[in-house]
Formats: sequence, structure tokens, C-alpha cells
Amino acid sequence: MPLVPSYIKQLSSYKPGKPIEEVKRELGITNIIKLASNENPLGPSPKAKKAIQSNIEMIHRYPDVSGYNLRKKLAQKFNVKINNVVLGAGSEGIMSTIMRTFLLNDDELLSAENSFIGYKVLAKASGRKTQWIPMKDNRYDLNAMAKKINDYTKIVYIANPDNPMGTYITKDEFDEFYSYVPSRTLIILDEAYYEYANNILDYPDSMYYRYNNVITLRSFSKAYGLGGLRIGYGFAHQDLISNLMKVKVPFEPSLPAQVAGCAALDDLDFLEKTIQVNKVGLQFVENELNQMGVLFVPSATNFLTTIWKTENEAKRIVDKLMKAGIIVRHLKSFGWPNYIRISIGIEEENIRLISQLKTIL
Ligand SMILES: Cc1ncc(COP(=O)(O)O)c(C=O)c1O
Repeated sequence: MPLVPSYIKQLSSYKPGKPIEEVKRELGITNIIKLASNENPLGPSPKAKKAIQSNIEMIHRYPDVSGYNLRKKLAQKFNVKINNVVLGAGSEGIMSTIMRTFLLNDDELLSAENSFIGYKVLAKASGRKTQWIPMKDNRYDLNAMAKKINDYTKIVYIANPDNPMGTYITKDEFDEFYSYVPSRTLIILDEAYYEYANNILDYPDSMYYRYNNVITLRSFSKAYGLGGLRIGYGFAHQDLISNLMKVKVPFEPSLPAQVAGCAALDDLDFLEKTIQVNKVGLQFVENELNQMGVLFVPSATNFLTTIWKTENEAKRIVDKLMKAGIIVRHLKSFGWPNYIRISIGIEEENIRLISQLKTIL
């Protein structure tokens, strides 16, 4: 028996966007902007920050084991029962719990090829058979995915909107796909960018899909600006939730994360500002890219994925931007060597990005 399973040995670990400190150290430059990890450029929700400060004296205590207050608040906000809500250390934490809870030996996982890399790492680490279906026109190809569902398919993962493409599947597309999915197959609808997409008319808000086999995952990491806290939530049928609760790491998310989550949900001004700043920024960057003749994938999120002729060209742009103090994400490790993902920043960051791109091009 090997000490390390072969599927773990072969795994490459998740490589995040370069942190600002690392770039400062490596290149000896200051005044760096990070447009690489789809974080909120406005910072954290002010109400969440205040809630953490007011509860700081309590961090010697364990938090509520299941995050009762936050689950209750989410249940009220989204009109479900508390037994339909689960929390985790980021939505990725919940993905991991889902795999540990439901996967049996021969079960298989199905998703799109080169979609969200965090899910791919977890799926591969599960040691189960995985099927990755190529995207079509930078979008999930749900027809092709439906054809690949077999007797062993246990989990279908759909990031909607997708990262790294920023594209979304429509309500009609999901409805048709769902008609092919057997009841023993779970669908994870990962809506980490829900807040940016939910004003799009044909975007399927999965709160309307409270079917027995659909798990919706959402995050506090993006629109609420709490990526560093690690907190996400999920909605599903109470039978699924009750089993997830047995497997979930107790006391996760942490006490600061739980109180910040509660406060962030009340921070409607911040949420509105976040969406507005992103909308204006996205339009600005799209217009400027169009004028420069740079190709990009239309986005329903807080980032834009640009398409370059060759891997070399993409790498050259990423390196030059980095030297100018702008960190963006080359998508080679995601499986898209010609693509660069750029998070939308605040106005001055977007202006700096565009002016630097113009210089490079
Ligand atoms: C599609 C998608 N899902 C999930 C996550 C991770 O969310 P969390 O920070 O809640 O784990 C991300 C983060 O980039 C993402 O892009």
C-alpha cells in the first residue's frame, strides 16, 4: 500500500493569483494593483468590519457549531427554512463537504473542461472518476454534458456564471438540461458571482430550483468583499443539508466570519455600490478593449477574460503589466494558454490598466 494515493501524487495544488507582497519583493516595486483574483476592489463591507471589531473580545470562545444566527438570517432573506441552509469556509469549503458526504466508490463527477479550477482540484483529490466536457464558444455545453450522464454520475458541477469565462447559462438551457438529470444525481450550482448576474433577465436564479437534488452555493468572498475570512453558504433540500451537517467541520466558519456574514447581509448600501462600481468599470474596460481591438468574452461577473493570438503574446502582456505593477491572471494553469483574466477594479485602477495596455500594444 503506498503512503500517498496515486491520484493525490499526480495532483497539482491550486495556484492563486500572485499576492501583492510577493510582487513587491520580487520586482522591488511599490504602488501595485491586483486585478487577478476577482476580489472586491472597494474592500470589505464596512458593516462586516465593524461586526468583527465588536466581537473581537469573544474569539477565545468557539462559535455556534452550525452558525445558527447567520443560517437563520439567510433563511429569512431567501425565503427558505433554516434546515435548508448550510455554511462553510468559503463555498469551496462546502464543495469539499459535499464530496465527502455523498461520494461512494464508483461514483463519478461531471463538469465542463477548464471551468473553475478550485472545483477541479477538489474533484481530482476525491479520487473518483471525473468527466470534463469541453466548453463551446467559451460556455458550458449543457447538451454535450447531458449526453455524458451515466449510471454512476453522482455530482454535476455548474459554475453559473463561470469562472474563468464570465459567461452564464440561461434559465431555458438549465431547464432543458435538468430534464435529463436523474434524481440520484446531485447538481451543484455554484453562484459565487450571483450578485453581479442576478439582474440579467434570462439568468436562472437557482432559488427557483429548490428541487431535491440541486445544491446552490454562494459566497461572501466577492460582492461582500470577505474573501480573506473564508465564508460561503449553500441552499438545498433538508435531507441533503442534514447529512452535510454531519460531515461538515464543526465550528466552521469561524466566529469573526459568522458575525461578519450577518452584518454583510444588512450592508445593502455597500452591495449596491459594489454592483454599480463594477457595472461602470466593466463597461469602461469593455469599451476601451473594443477600441484597441482586443478580443474578450462578454462577462456577467466582476472580471473580464481577454483572448490573445498566442500563448507567448498572452505571457508577454501579463509580464509587462506585472513589471508596471498591475497583477492580472494568465489562464494557462486553467487550461487556456491564450487567455488573460482581468478583474474589474475601481475607476483609477481601470484607467491605469487601460493606459498601460495601450502602451504595451
Ligand atoms: C466560480 C467560483 N466558485 C467559488 C469560488 C470560491 O469562493 P469562496 O471564496 O466562497 O470559496 C470562486 C472564487 O474565485 C469562484 O470563482
